[in-house]
Amino acid sequence: MARILITSALPYINGIKHLGNLAGSMLPADVWARFKRGQGHDVLYICATDEHGTPAELAAAAAGQDVRAYCDEQHAVQKAAGEAFGLSYDWFGRSSNPPNHRLTQHFAEALEANGLIEERVDRMIYSIDDRRFLPDRYVEGTCPHCAYPKARGDQCDNCGRLLDPVDLIDPYSSVSGSRNLEVRDTRHLYLLQTKIADEIRAWVDSKTDWQPLAKSIAYKHLDEGLIDRGITRDLAWGIPVTKDGFPRPGMEDKVFYVWFDAPIEYIGATEEWAGRTGATWRDWWRLDEGADDVRYVQFMGKDNVAFHTVSFPATIIGSGEPWKTVDQLKAFNWLNWYGGKFSTSQKRGVFMDQALELLPADYWRWHLTAYGPEHSDAAFTWEQFQSTTNKDLADVLGNFVNRIVKFAESKFDGVVPEGGEPGELEAKLEADIRAGIAEATAQFEAMEFRKAAQALRAVWVLGNEYLQVAAPWTALKTDRDRAAVGVRTGLNLVALFARLAAPVMPFTAQRIAETVGSRDLTWPGADASLFDRVPAGQAVHAPEVLFRKIEDAQVAEWSERFGGAE
Ligand code: MF3
Ligand code: ZN
Repeated sequence: MARILITSALPYINGIKHLGNLAGSMLPADVWARFKRGQGHDVLYICATDEHGTPAELAAAAAGQDVRAYCDEQHAVQKAAGEAFGLSYDWFGRSSNPPNHRLTQHFAEALEANGLIEERVDRMIYSIDDRRFLPDRYVEGTCPHCAYPKARGDQCDNCGRLLDPVDLIDPYSSVSGSRNLEVRDTRHLYLLQTKIADEIRAWVDSKTDWQPLAKSIAYKHLDEGLIDRGITRDLAWGIPVTKDGFPRPGMEDKVFYVWFDAPIEYIGATEEWAGRTGATWRDWWRLDEGADDVRYVQFMGKDNVAFHTVSFPATIIGSGEPWKTVDQLKAFNWLNWYGGKFSTSQKRGVFMDQALELLPADYWRWHLTAYGPEHSDAAFTWEQFQSTTNKDLADVLGNFVNRIVKFAESKFDGVVPEGGEPGELEAKLEADIRAGIAEATAQFEAMEFRKAAQALRAVWVLGNEYLQVAAPWTALKTDRDRAAVGVRTGLNLVALFARLAAPVMPFTAQRIAETVGSRDLTWPGADASLFDRVPAGQAVHAPEVLFRKIEDAQVAEWSERFGGAE
């Protein structure tokens, strides 16, 4: 049994997340956490809301709320949405909670002690009309790299480059729209990443088993050359730079930059979890206190990779303290909405709460896992969602379960029948199924989610093919024992398919298992016995429809409601 720490990128507090956010971090992290728990490992899956910085302040202002009240409310909303989607966090924390305050200030002190923090006079954009500095997202303008006209001060959504607000062309305030801006001096703390660039590169070099997406983004940023980064901001909401016993004259009104404190909340949230459950957290994070046998895996969209391969490692490595760093980093591309982008600010696409009004979580979980933006961007369309749902779920998995359980109900008194001996057909089936499970296992181990899902689908297809050939409905007319073998094998497959479905579709997996009176949703190992799990005599009950086909009329209605092709 291994100890596995899993984190998914912390969703910004600014409103409920869309399917693109879900598909690129929280959902695959959850699927993998469930897979690993199913294998019997000791998994700790941590997430939290990312509550500081301009996204939080701007969203609170737009909602006409005090930022703290806004965050309280939105944290609860996101927590509930995650639960409804079956996201099995061991803890869903908040970056504004006390542990993160303490840890963030601690890291700043440790970096300072190592000579990696410097106070610099900075030239920042000041809005005369708003009477304030405009850090990060408070200013928008044209990207100096790709000419995208709505680039934000901290990052261009179009080309993905990290930006400095003063580099924007034609900047304007996103608070008031005012272009009455000037550049003023203000003092800030800088993290001297240039001093440890070689160490960070060596650390990235050591990650020989990372997939190309994560690796290439890390090197792109290292090759462009690391710069010293400002880690404080002129904002009211956030983690204060000064604290009791640690005065920094002139910095009383400043807070740490959100991207400095947010990843530290991975640790902070673990401390929150431990505080609440009585568990210990340092043995998950401190190499000198037991974390040396932890395997740490992070999940995120590609826009987050630079922060996790350069900035956060700079914080941790620069501290000189023995903190756990990430072992495996799984990055995802964009899920697009038809040809364009999902957008939280422009409310384009389907959001987690809306999705669940249309269909149960598992429909979405399957589609976003099996056809997600894994090795390239992927487009969500209602038409593709309809087609994959109807084929994979209704025709293949749902149909199999319904057919065999209903048949057992009607012709074998609703119990698993006795009699007969498995023959060649069953031996061949077993070999094929074992190969299929091995393939799915290997793909999950490799964090190849689309391939893992295709392997699962292939196993479910084997079940349908078997029933086609074994045809217990025909056999029953001449050879009841032969029919009994087919039904018993089929019902055992039902129990097995539930186990295989469990990481991706936990709700449905449970319903499928219940049809044959099973509770086992663990992941089958190579030596698992497959066809004698559901004993003869066990009562079975056909499920209410497992998966309803998506009708053309629904596609039309949803396209109308959410926009689509155009
Ligand atoms: N809130 C960021 C986003 O949604 C992700 C933060 S990840 C963390 O892009 F590591 F900083 F927490
Ligand atoms: Zn750009």
